[in-house]
Amino acid sequence: MFTGVMLLGTVRLASGLTVLRLGLHVLGAAVWVGGQIVLLGMVPGARKLHPDLPKTLAVRFARLSWPAFALLVATGIWSAIVEEQHHPTGAWQVMLGVKVGVVAIAGIGAWRHSASTSRAGIALWGATAAIASLAALALGVFLAG
Ligand code: HEM
Repeated sequence: MFTGVMLLGTVRLASGLTVLRLGLHVLGAAVWVGGQIVLLGMVPGARKLHPDLPKTLAVRFARLSWPAFALLVATGIWSAIVEEQHHPTGAWQVMLGVKVGVVAIAGIGAWRHSASTSRAGIALWGATAAIASLAALALGVFLAG
């Protein structure tokens, strides 16, 4: 992170706007990625309680995860605009392009996962969404440097 840094004595701290931008981005990632992992852990126990319970949990999670995804895209575009100028070599831009592609796969995977009716479809698209989301998280940390 190159912008929005203030020096307080010898301590380097991010500015309020940077905290807002990255804080909201990380909050979105926590809900979108962390929520998928928590849901995965809860499904077997929920199924034992009632066969319909995993579906109910998934529908409830979608009400949180899609706004979190929208927050990730909005704050991600904000970060791209702010940070792009500090990375003149092109490698950072390539990494950002790869990340945008991976985010698109995560979104499509999650959408197909919730629309699938077969067990194989649910498993395949769920795994696609989860792996792509983890990859987006790792690429984000690379971009942040
Ligand atoms: C599944 C969706 C996404 C996840 C899980 C995700 C996750 C993350 C994480 C964990 C970071 C590191 C934050 C830090 O260490 O301070 C980050 C940084 C970043 N992300 Fe994302 N992100 C997502 C979507 C997007 C999108 C759609 C864009 C652009 C359109 C984007 C652009 C960026 C940029 C430019 C940074 C670097 C910010 C900086 O250095 O100030 N992200 N992302």
